[in-house]
Formats: sequence, C-alpha cells, structure tokens
Amino acid sequence: MTDKKKAGGLAGVTAGKTALCTVGKEGAGLTYCGYDIYDLADNATFEEVAYLLLHGKLPTRAELDAYVAKIKSLRGLPDALKVVLEMVPAEAHPMDVLRTGVSFLGNIEPEAGDFSDQQDVADRLLACLPSMMVYWHRFHTDGVRIDTGTGDDSIAGHILHMLHDKAPPALHEQSLSTTLILYAEHEFNASTFAGRVITGTLSDMHSAVSGAIGALRGPLHGGANEAAMALIQKFGSPEEATAGVLGMLERKELIMGFGHRVYTTSDPRNSVNKAMSKTLAEEQGDLTLYEVSEAIEKVMWDEKKLFANADFFAASVYHFMGIPTYLFTPIFVCSRITGWAAHVMEQRADNKLIRPAADYIGPPLQEWVAIDDR
Ligand code: COA
Repeated sequence: MTDKKKAGGLAGVTAGKTALCTVGKEGAGLTYCGYDIYDLADNATFEEVAYLLLHGKLPTRAELDAYVAKIKSLRGLPDALKVVLEMVPAEAHPMDVLRTGVSFLGNIEPEAGDFSDQQDVADRLLACLPSMMVYWHRFHTDGVRIDTGTGDDSIAGHILHMLHDKAPPALHEQSLSTTLILYAEHEFNASTFAGRVITGTLSDMHSAVSGAIGALRGPLHGGANEAAMALIQKFGSPEEATAGVLGMLERKELIMGFGHRVYTTSDPRNSVNKAMSKTLAEEQGDLTLYEVSEAIEKVMWDEKKLFANADFFAASVYHFMGIPTYLFTPIFVCSRITGWAAHVMEQRADNKLIRPAADYIGPPLQEWVAIDDR
C-alpha cells in the first residue's frame, strides 16, 4: 500500500498525545503503559490490565484484590435497566443493546458534573457491561431473568458462567481473559478516537462510551470478528476455503479479519489468538474450523500480502467456547471499555476541543434564487 493511498481517513496523521499505548512503534510494538502485550498476555490477568490502564500503574497484590472485589460488587443491574433490556427486542443486535444500556445507565447513574467520580463510572461500566449483555441475551433466547452476581473473580469467568449457567473450564476462562487483554487498548483507533472527540466537548463518560460502541459496531472495526466467523463457517474444508476466498478476491470482496490501518506486515495479537484457537480446537477434537481459518490466512498472504488481524482467530476462539457469534463484538466492548475510559480521563487531563478542518469541494459561491424561479 502506498502512502498516497493511505492519505484519506486521517491515515498517518498524528491527532494527539497518549501515554496509554503504542501501536506498531519501532522497537516497542504493541504496549500498554509501557508493558509489552506479550508479557501482559502471558502473565497478567485482565483485571490487572484494566487496573494498569485506568490507574497508569500495575497494582500491588493488595490493590488488585481490592479492585477485583470492587468490580465484583458492581455487577448488579438496577431494576429500571433490566426493564429496558427486556424491552429491547430479541431481533436487536447486542451492540445496540449495549449502546442503549450505557446510555440509560447515564440517566439513572449520571456522572458528576465535575467528573470527580470518573474512576467509579469507569469501574461500574467495566463491571456491568457483561451483565447487561448476557442478561438481555438470556432473557430473549432462554426466557430467563439471570442473576448477574455469579461470584466469579474474573470478568471472563463471570461472562462464561452467566452464559452457560455453570462455572467455566479453566482453559476457557483463561483463553477468554487473554482475548480481553489483547482487545483492551489500541491507541487512536476509530472507536477510541470517537470517544475522545465526544470527551473533548466536556461531555460525560456515558456519552463518550455510547458513541464509541457505535463506532466499534461497524464491520471495518470491531464488527469484523462476527463477519470473520460467518466467513469461516461457510467452508467445510481447507480446500473449499481456498477456492472460496480466491473467488471472493477475484470479485474484489473484502475479507473480514484481514488488514490493518497501522500494521503493515502482521498484527502482534494474531499469533496469541491463533495459538489459543488451535488449543481449543484440539480440546474439541475437531480441527476443521481451525484448518479452514489457516487456509484462508494462507490465501490472503499469498495473494494479497494481507495478514490476519486480532479479529480473525478471536472469532474461532469464542466459537469454541460456545459463545454465540452475535456476542463477539459486545465482548470486545467488555474489554475495550478499559481503554476507552482511560482515554476519556487522559483527554480530560489536558483537554482541547477536537475540531479539524476540511477541504471544501462543493460548488463556488452562487447567487440566491427565489423558490418560484428554480
Ligand atoms: N480484504 C481484501 N482486500 C483488502 C482487505 C481485506 N480485508 N483489506 C485491505 N484490502 C485491500 C483494499 O481493497 C485495497 O486494495 P486496492 O489497493 O486494490 O484498492 C488495499 O488493500 C488497501 O486497503 P485500504 O482499505 O485502503 O486500507 P485501510 O487502511 O483504509 O483499511 C481496514 C484498513 C482494516 C479497514 C481494511 O484492511 C479492511 O477493511 N479490513 C477488513 C475489516 C477488518 O478486518 N477490520 C478490523 C480491523 S482491526
């Protein structure tokens, strides 16, 4: 891809400063607050990463224990919000459910006008987004009103427990936690930037997060993990996948889960997701979906030099844990809320209204024509 081609869409434009993340920076790669993503994925819990992003430092043991206890205590949903979630139709997309849920919460639990409780608002959203997501899903698919206080320490455990009505196997809890770490933060991506633009007007955190959810929903951004699953499931074998994707490329169709605005040769998150996908496929005793995914990855590299991004293998990881496809992007929200909230706070700490300029390409100045003379 040439720089010229990348000139649109603010590609390559530096639009502000952040201490939260580097993406593809030479000599650093992907880091959160100075920590390498691979160190975090291998060693941290998602809750530790959430604390890191929201507080700018790793927690001590005592701080982490207190943080986990706080998040657990904030998982309950207010009755009024449950009523709203029950009213959102079963046919709605759960990203729209979360957007509505966050917006409604902003009415019944508004942020203080001076933002003095911004940290608590962030923690509340981190704790209750999974509850909103699964409460709505189980109400509309199983006709049950679940108890969102599962007692699991981890957010991954909480999600899987609410979904499947039982404590998850350790491998699933750990794998989901790792994907949450990988999804937590990614500098000035579209949804985070949308959240920062909203924050720049001195608006509240619920508005910034609602807007960010709207941006993440699209298939060019977070929605790619759902679209990738739909693609993988179309094929019954690696051979079918190779032929099918070649045909799609010939027809100039986009292959979801490939390519990236910033990375040029690989997405560092992919190797971690790919390894988890293989392990989970082996656990299931059926490697078909994994091998189909690998075949697609090979065609995309051979034909277009395009690489799988974080969304591609995350799709099969979630699928192997029995997570319905339409919850893949909402789970991304349950993770990225940490990055979004951290950016809201960072933006506020050194705020300037974000208002770029545009090159005008419309008609020259024209004479006014009265309505009956047009
Ligand atoms: N499938 C097929 N072709 C792709 C492609 C994909 N996933 N991603 C990029 N390309 C092609 C484009 O068609 C374009 O081809 P051209 O030069 O013949 O016009 C070229 O690669 C450059 O792509 P462009 O859309 O200009 O890059 P971008 O930086 O604007 O877009 C994405 C980045 C992520 C939006 C883009 O790669 C994409 O749409 N990917 C699929 C959605 C996705 O996975 N999103 C999640 C991102 S983490």
